[in-house]
Amino acid sequence: MDLCGRSVVLTGATGGIGEPLCAALVEAGARVLAVGRDAARLDALAARMPRDAVRCVVADLASDDGRQRLLQAARTGSPAPSVLVLAHAQGGFGLFEDQDPQAMARLVDTNLVAPLLLIRALLPLLQAHDQVAVAVVGSTFGSLAFPGFAAYSASKFGLRGLVEALAREYADTPLRFQYLAPRATRTAFNTPAVDALNAELKVASDAPADVARALVAAIERGQARLQLGWPEKLFARLNGVLPGLVDRSLRAQLPAVRRHARSPQPDSREETRHATPLR
Ligand SMILES: NC(=O)c1ccc[n+]([C@@H]2O[C@H](COP(=O)([O-])OP(=O)(O)OC[C@H]3O[C@@H](n4cnc5c(N)ncnc54)[C@H](OP(=O)(O)O)[C@@H]3O)[C@@H](O)[C@H]2O)c1
Repeated sequence: MDLCGRSVVLTGATGGIGEPLCAALVEAGARVLAVGRDAARLDALAARMPRDAVRCVVADLASDDGRQRLLQAARTGSPAPSVLVLAHAQGGFGLFEDQDPQAMARLVDTNLVAPLLLIRALLPLLQAHDQVAVAVVGSTFGSLAFPGFAAYSASKFGLRGLVEALAREYADTPLRFQYLAPRATRTAFNTPAVDALNAELKVASDAPADVARALVAAIERGQARLQLGWPEKLFARLNGVLPGLVDRSLRAQLPAVRRHARSPQPDSREETRHATPLR
């Protein structure tokens, strides 16, 4: 798909991956409707882009109200959006029994329920075009569930199932659904505890700008599935065919996961800034 001249709805646009993703989409010639909850960060993002390339909408996508606001903004843009990129998410590193039930429910609402409802609500707008892409940013943990990330892994597995089912349901239409999974990426999504766990487990991480470029290239190619990173690609597949092998390998990493999950948190970043090793 040639992105030039297209209108793209981008959620998570203020994120560590979202910002370079917005820039890469604009560089490819797209106009972006950038979505986030922080008006000041959205305005700063738009100010760094060429004039009129980025419109902003402030919306908490975990709420009906926020989703309605996004829908309203998408309806008023011209041209109407033909690409939807869902790159928002809430992280959640911690042992399952230590997690606040309400925070876990909110994570699932943000990461899974919101994408499902947004795709459904935006379909009529998207379907007005003869080429449409819905690209969902997943995670390695959407193919390989990781201890210490139960709710997050569940949300990303759900997202992968959603995208796969939709791709199959709309296979004979102009709609293309894509599940694009970064591995660990150096953004504020990852708390110091996650960074420490990644360092101990020697998990490689990518620069956000590289991830953004890979995501845009995958959208342009219309690639249905993408897993970034070599060992991650292998382990994600291995988990599908020989999950027992992965069980054994992750069991050996449990002591490190438990130690870092319960380590004191030196920062006070909000719940949305929690994260992952392999991701
Ligand atoms: N970083 C990694 O290691 C990594 C690895 C694999 C996959 N991923 C995936 O990559 C995507 C982007 O991650 P990132 O590293 O860019 O994360 P990030 O820097 O924490 O950014 C998260 C983005 O999501 C938005 N967001 C969170 N909750 C929201 C809500 N309820 N309503 C609307 N917007 C909300 C945030 O907007 P606000 O300005 O409102 O906070 C922000 O723009 C996510 O899907 C994540 O799961 C990340």
